[in-house]
Amino acid sequence: MIKKIVAGILLITSLSVSEAQKINLPKVMAEAEKQTEVMLTEIPKAKGVSHDLVSPRTLENGKLKLVPSKDWTSAFFPGQLWYLYEYTGNNKWKAEAERYTATIEKEKTNAGTHDMGFKIYCSFGNGLRLTQNEHYKDVIIQAAKTLSTRFNATAGVIKSWDNRTKWKYPVIIDNMMNLELLFEATKLTGDQSFRKIAIVHANTTMKNHYRADFSSYHVVDYDTSTGKVLQKTTHQGYSDASAWTRGQSWGLYGYTMCYRETKDKSYLAQAEKVAEYFLNHPNLPKDLVPYYDFDAPGIPNEPRDASAASITASALYELSTYSKNGKKYKDAANKIVENLTNSYRAKSGESYGFLLLHSTGSKAQNSEVDVPLSYADYYYIEALLRGKKLKEGKKLF
Ligand code: GLY
Repeated sequence: MIKKIVAGILLITSLSVSEAQKINLPKVMAEAEKQTEVMLTEIPKAKGVSHDLVSPRTLENGKLKLVPSKDWTSAFFPGQLWYLYEYTGNNKWKAEAERYTATIEKEKTNAGTHDMGFKIYCSFGNGLRLTQNEHYKDVIIQAAKTLSTRFNATAGVIKSWDNRTKWKYPVIIDNMMNLELLFEATKLTGDQSFRKIAIVHANTTMKNHYRADFSSYHVVDYDTSTGKVLQKTTHQGYSDASAWTRGQSWGLYGYTMCYRETKDKSYLAQAEKVAEYFLNHPNLPKDLVPYYDFDAPGIPNEPRDASAASITASALYELSTYSKNGKKYKDAANKIVENLTNSYRAKSGESYGFLLLHSTGSKAQNSEVDVPLSYADYYYIEALLRGKKLKEGKKLF
């Protein structure tokens, strides 16, 4: 009898443990707040007299590197501030979030980039979600209009980069992350054109970016007069044929979000296949924090990419709410978050206030290798908050 009771208690304990992040979230978030305070004091020092530099991106030669609003990473720090406000309810974070968000606004009319979703949705999108500020709606709608000008109907995709000699009309898998802004603009305006562009882009990308094993190419180049694919290549990965890890994470996050917005089962199936590719890969380390490329030749002596891990964790939490394999995906997300928390965090007060170490921006260009990156921190906090909501039985969306 006693044996049975003990076994029962053990079972209940192990079930509840496997279903939640095994971390002390209040302590982890208090530490994140402290680090963010450090960052807030470091930014003005790094800025000097420059008015263009608005947000932290990484450490370069051990020093804080800030970027102007036009940089694709400019809104991750404002987004992190919004998440701290969401978690704490503290108006101090709201004021900082508003201040940093405002510095990105001019990007709403910058048609020279596809990175509108990263820049406007992580900042103004979170701001709108948490404050219902009417002005934020206008910014999102204008940004979606601007992004739509980069869509080519013949190819069925939004162009990623301009002025590149290697490609005519390059589209990178990362571009899936911009679609959330378009879905939101349709919800705000009733204008279906934004949503239609998002769906056509997602469908074209599903057809042309993925290999039979559901790994993704990084850059697909299109001929816009015929819609034909010209080449499938990489930019930040090890080789054209390899699986650049963060690209797998962007695709996973993007198709999970597309399923949320459309309930189209093909997007759910795509997200599940990408998750399986990622989680079952023989080169995925035991702690689930991947190398920068699944096919990097020097594994295990290759740099990790904690940013890919945090994007993946956040995406898996959402996917867990839709998929019949939900438990597996939630357990994997919990494990990633636990490992990032226990083994990848910057020491308190160090690293200019970044939260996570050991990300890789672009090993192929020997740039930002094994460093903190603002988007690793943003998606880490997002994943922590998603894990919390699920633990509390709340809906994510
Ligand atoms: N979107 C650029 C990157 O993931 O590095």
